[in-house]
Amino acid sequence: MADRIPVILDGDPGHDDAIAWMLAASSPLLDIRAVTSVCGNQTIEKTTYNALRICTLLGLKCPVAKGRPTPMVAEPMTAAAVHGNTGLDGPVLPEPAMELEKEGAVELMARVLRESSEPVQIVATGPQTNVATLLVSYPELKEKIRGISFMGGGIAYGNWSCAAEFNILVDPEAAQIVSSSGLPIIMSGLDVTEKALIFPEDFERIRAVGNPVAKVVAEWLEFFYEFHRKIGYEGAPVHDAVAVTALIRPELLDMQDMYVQIETKGEYCRGTTVGDVRKTMNKEPNMRVCMGIDRKGFADLLVEAVKTYDKGAE
Ligand code: RIB
Ligand code: CA
Repeated sequence: MADRIPVILDGDPGHDDAIAWMLAASSPLLDIRAVTSVCGNQTIEKTTYNALRICTLLGLKCPVAKGRPTPMVAEPMTAAAVHGNTGLDGPVLPEPAMELEKEGAVELMARVLRESSEPVQIVATGPQTNVATLLVSYPELKEKIRGISFMGGGIAYGNWSCAAEFNILVDPEAAQIVSSSGLPIIMSGLDVTEKALIFPEDFERIRAVGNPVAKVVAEWLEFFYEFHRKIGYEGAPVHDAVAVTALIRPELLDMQDMYVQIETKGEYCRGTTVGDVRKTMNKEPNMRVCMGIDRKGFADLLVEAVKTYDKGAE
């Protein structure tokens, strides 16, 4: 397919991971080569089962592989309060129509990189455990990585501790390896993703599209919003879909080149993404940090994305 960007989707679905994958699979700009699960929102067993069900719902025909069972160093941590006991509570989803690959996520990522005629983009919407392990285990394949667009961190604040965002806090060592890799990195942290709000009236626009994917996405948004409404959000912050938007509609985002370090120590600040906003470190930027978004344009993008599923699963 001419000029489509080859992509690996790595995440911990998770409602917003699922919506991010729906957006990615809808885009004519992306060629999804593999989906890999990572432990985060829920255990690796649950995020893997969710990954298979999401791919089935979307009619996404690509290899799916199970990620590592724990972060690189830290003890596992999950987010049942946000995504429910299954990690993707809410609408009934189809049972998986495909088997998992026999190889693990990191091995599948390596195979996709090896077999691709051009460098492959990684979209990481969970803890960066698999991506970091790929970089450490297969250094010779780094040149086959086009770049990494990740959801995680926050220059101004955290959401799982006062300083750290969940994805980074689950595996700070992994995030540190990725951030210092020298690869082209786009960071979609809380600074932008908490502005990527989908309001109840947007849920209805999506539901009104009427196809099975649209109905499920509307229910995912309603479930995700229920947690956030109780803590004062006006809408559902669809964090992970911003990491895909950065690739397919960058004009919707305000990005700043920045030098960002990951705090792996600290009693209060472990997992913090420490951004050199004022350029005091005199260091070359190591990532493009998304700081703002055209919210209406983002909501419209999701509405247009669900319309592409009118044809149903192929
Ligand atoms: O902090 C938000 C991030 O944590 C999102 O990726 C969400 O899916 C959870 O993984
Ligand atoms: Ca996620």
